[in-house]
Amino acid sequence: MGRTLHVDAGQPVLEAALRAGLNLPHSCKSGHCGSCRARILAGAIHYPHGRPLGISEAEEARGFVLLCQARADTDLVVSARVIANVADVEIKTLPCRIGRMALLAPDVMQVMLRLPAVEPLRFQAGQYLDVLLDDRRRSFSIASPPHDSELVELHVRRVRGGGFTERIFDGGLTTGALLRIEGPIGQFIYRDGTGPVLMVAGGTGFAPLKSMLRHLLESGVQRNVHCFWGARHERDVYEQALVLDWVRRFAHFRFTAVLSDASVAEAAHHRVGWVHDAVLADYPDLAPFEVYAAGPPAMIEALRESFPRHGLAPGKLYFDSFDYAPDTRRGST
Ligand SMILES: Cc1cc2nc3c(=O)[nH]c(=O)nc-3n(C[C@H](O)[C@H](O)[C@H](O)COP(=O)(O)OP(=O)(O)OC[C@H]3O[C@@H](n4cnc5c(N)ncnc54)[C@H](O)[C@@H]3O)c2cc1C
Ligand code: FES
Repeated sequence: MGRTLHVDAGQPVLEAALRAGLNLPHSCKSGHCGSCRARILAGAIHYPHGRPLGISEAEEARGFVLLCQARADTDLVVSARVIANVADVEIKTLPCRIGRMALLAPDVMQVMLRLPAVEPLRFQAGQYLDVLLDDRRRSFSIASPPHDSELVELHVRRVRGGGFTERIFDGGLTTGALLRIEGPIGQFIYRDGTGPVLMVAGGTGFAPLKSMLRHLLESGVQRNVHCFWGARHERDVYEQALVLDWVRRFAHFRFTAVLSDASVAEAAHHRVGWVHDAVLADYPDLAPFEVYAAGPPAMIEALRESFPRHGLAPGKLYFDSFDYAPDTRRGST
């Protein structure tokens, strides 16, 4: 079914589509993950910073573009896949206040947002929101589940020199501060089903998985879930106590922390290495599973490259790649 929408000059086509309520596939919004690939049937686009890394020359020659980076030069006719089950979620721009903050790890802050009482945010477990800052936006996954949306929970990792995250840590933004958000966004959502599920978090990639896990466990879904959480040190597995409590209470839930920079003491009682390798060591045949993964682009790349070779069915890997905002210069810190 066709939809017509207006794209401003210089605006990424994906952004215009999302604002118009058209939930097109995407993840990183930085031209890396390839999720927003679509085909141009008529018209011309350009990329402000040249061909993005997430698309090859051969794909480009076949008419494919990355909508998160593409700017329209003319009217366009685009063939893209719409994610049906989130297409009806209304994306809103809302004011909100920081209700409270708590340090979860030395560089991770739990930020609880209080939304206007008359304007609740309807979202699905796993989605994210954008914090709007003048002409820029910063994406953060929602860690609270849809059934507990009085305060919307975010896990914000400090990025040294980061325009937004530094202000959360240096006192520039404290309890009571007013923010503007846009959301919910994204199609990294929990899908109902009966088969076993593997979840893979890298660092604050635990946030959307926490939303999914609370949604599942607190609504009594009896699906087998094994969650792996990759982090540098034990302190970075910042909600381990909560997760281990779930392991005690729910027989169908398992958990494994995997430390990449473990000290000798940590290595004595933890799995050590890369989280995706630990998953494959425990589950060399991924054919029966659905996999939900969220975290740094390098981790997502590793999963996308290796899991299909271990039998993971096409379309059974759902992921969110926590890439930098597109307006930042990569590697400038
Ligand atoms: C869909 C999605 C969901 C996300 N969810 C979360 C989340 O739940 N929690 C969370 O902490 N982050 C999350 N992120 C990443 C987060 O949006 C960025 O880290 C954030 O935009 C940094 O904002 P900033 O203004 O502080 O830094 P910026 O001013 O944007 O960046 C300053 C410099 O730091 C570097 N930088 C920026 N971000 C990162 C990074 N992530 N890692 C390493 N270097 C970086 C860049 O080189 C940049 O030049 C998510 C990203 C996406 C795309
Ligand atoms: S490449 Fe466009 S969303 Fe990742």
